[in-house]
Amino acid sequence: MPAPTYLPESKHHLVTELADGLESAALTWLSGYFAGVAQGRQLPRAEPALVPAAVDTSAQKRLTILYGSQTGNAKRVAESLAEQVAASGLDYRLVRADGYATRELKDEHLLYLVISTQGDGEAPDDSLAFVEFLNSRRAPKLPQLQYAVLGLGDSSYPLFCGIAQSIDARLAELGARRLQDTGTADLDIETIAGPWREQAVLQAREVLKKPAAKGASITPLHPKTGKVTRERPFAAELLLNQTITGRGGAKDVRHLELSLEGSHVRYQPGDALGVWPVQSPLLVDRIVSLLGLDADEAVEHQQATRPLREWLSRHRELTVLTRPFLTAHAERSGSGKLQALLLPDAQESLKRLLANQQLADILESHPAPWTASELVAALRPISPRMYSIASSQAAVGEEVHLTLANVAYETATGPRWGAASNFLSNLREGERVDVFVEENTRFRLPSDPARDIIMIGPGTGIAPFRAFVQERSAAGATGRNWLFFGNPHFATDFLYQTEWQQALKSGRLHRLDVAFSRDQAEKVYVQHKLKERAAEVYAWIQGGAHVYVCGDANRMARDVQQALLDIAQQEGGMEAAQAKAWLDALAAQGRYARDVY
Ligand SMILES: Cc1cc2nc3c(=O)[nH]c(=O)nc-3n(C[C@H](O)[C@H](O)[C@H](O)COP(=O)(O)OP(=O)(O)OC[C@H]3O[C@@H](n4cnc5c(N)ncnc54)[C@H](O)[C@@H]3O)c2cc1C
Ligand SMILES: Cc1cc2nc3c(=O)[nH]c(=O)nc-3n(C[C@H](O)[C@H](O)[C@H](O)COP(=O)(O)O)c2cc1C
Repeated sequence: MPAPTYLPESKHHLVTELADGLESAALTWLSGYFAGVAQGRQLPRAEPALVPAAVDTSAQKRLTILYGSQTGNAKRVAESLAEQVAASGLDYRLVRADGYATRELKDEHLLYLVISTQGDGEAPDDSLAFVEFLNSRRAPKLPQLQYAVLGLGDSSYPLFCGIAQSIDARLAELGARRLQDTGTADLDIETIAGPWREQAVLQAREVLKKPAAKGASITPLHPKTGKVTRERPFAAELLLNQTITGRGGAKDVRHLELSLEGSHVRYQPGDALGVWPVQSPLLVDRIVSLLGLDADEAVEHQQATRPLREWLSRHRELTVLTRPFLTAHAERSGSGKLQALLLPDAQESLKRLLANQQLADILESHPAPWTASELVAALRPISPRMYSIASSQAAVGEEVHLTLANVAYETATGPRWGAASNFLSNLREGERVDVFVEENTRFRLPSDPARDIIMIGPGTGIAPFRAFVQERSAAGATGRNWLFFGNPHFATDFLYQTEWQQALKSGRLHRLDVAFSRDQAEKVYVQHKLKERAAEVYAWIQGGAHVYVCGDANRMARDVQQALLDIAQQEGGMEAAQAKAWLDALAAQGRYARDVY
């Protein structure tokens, strides 16, 4: 950051140090703080650690916006809300759930929560402690509180926005007053989030008794510079598309290298790359032909007019079925079978159908008429897919590398594929793809390079650890690097095998444990390897090591978590509750971090 000339030179380093590594929310808070100092000492409230909640009365006049987010969507929506609130001249603070001092809850008067649902109806990692506190007996009665919750989720999951719903119910149970119904935003987030935010701002004005300030000057969180964002992606050229699994392997995994030249895009190890997929032309043709439509027909929807082909190729989900579409199609087709699937007692069958069938399958098996514009309006807008970045800019400069599993499978009625992984796998060198960086500040290397790290990344979960080892090597970090990797077979699925072997040889990687699950009669996974090495794993952690887990959220991340808890009990002589508190404390210190999907 360039130091402003009107600051005494002796203070320049303080500003630089203060801003270094802070998230935009914290920087915004600081700018408000200093603006307050400048305008006659009307100080916005200091951070909880500096001023005890008991002496703070300003909470009555201020809105707290709390967010919980795994992959950045809820964070982005909360930041937009903060921008709108700021534009109304209202006093607010924006806090990530793991930075919130829960003892302040009893003094809050106006609280907005924006939170996504993860796992099987679970909270994002940054909100686990907040949600646990709220559901505990320690949670205070909240008769003074007015609140609203906006949930982000995916309607193809059975517990759609489950966490938002349960927080809403709990706050009401604790005596708080709901200002508007809980918003449940599907992957086309803005359809629900936009109106929810508008309403939230109106209500905040009402509660804080503050009409919009005239001429209030706002520092936008996302200044409209030429910066690459989700909405303004960079068209990155593909430099390399290399299969890194062997022939006959269970999966087709690619190592991709993309050029960021000219984009000024910067990323940190731990961040993800957002990719906007383009649907397969074969699939678009199949859907158009199943419905007897004209691909060139111009379709107007929400102030945009495009040919149907373009809507379907770049702007609509075709490979992922959603509950709202299925509901509409069940009605149109008059199919009793589909309608029965939507009944409350058919949840499991519905879940299977949503996971295994795609739009074209349903259009074929249960025909129904759709016009082009009805179809565009009913299908879900396409979402970018995230890929953990597998490179460090310290090593690769203006490039970004990915480790991509191609989702492709056969069904009784023909081949099926995933939108983004198919698009990327078929991309040829020289072709371009729209990308942006999605920060993941919760998945960062230790700031102290002398700390040891333990990386657990089976399958494509290996990706960020390639970036970690590159970064630590370039920085000359002295801490040790221990990698746990797993996949079905040594011969076909040892991703980046030669790189790891060279890293071991040259001392950039210090320990490597591998679990090839199907190379012997008994299945062996990374959690088994962790437990085999229990004493050393525990010793590394107690010696200050950071633990990282990346990859499958459904089974692996849970089993690894259980293995860590078992290790604490076995090696540390802890009871189950103590082991949980130990792991929670590691997570709170940023020493147990997960990037799971
Ligand atoms: C933070 C984050 C990081 C990620 N990092 C990586 C990474 O480094 N490498 C990587 O390869 N992926 C990664 N993913 C997953 C990635 O974002 C996509 O979800 C994945 O590539 C599938 O997207 P798709 O568009 O190809 O499939 P979709 O079009 O979304 O899915 C099509 C159909 O296939 C089914 N399906 C989806 N995935 C699978 C699967 N694995 N097996 C069987 N069926 C499936 C779906 O249920 C659906 O019916 C990450 C996800 C997140 C959230
Ligand atoms: C592994 C995983 C599990 C998820 N589980 C659920 C779920 O149980 N219910 C739901 O409504 N959405 C679920 N989602 C969808 C997310 O809530 C949705 O993508 C949301 O926009 C993510 O917001 P975030 O980036 O702020 O975390 C899941 C997503 C992932 C990647």
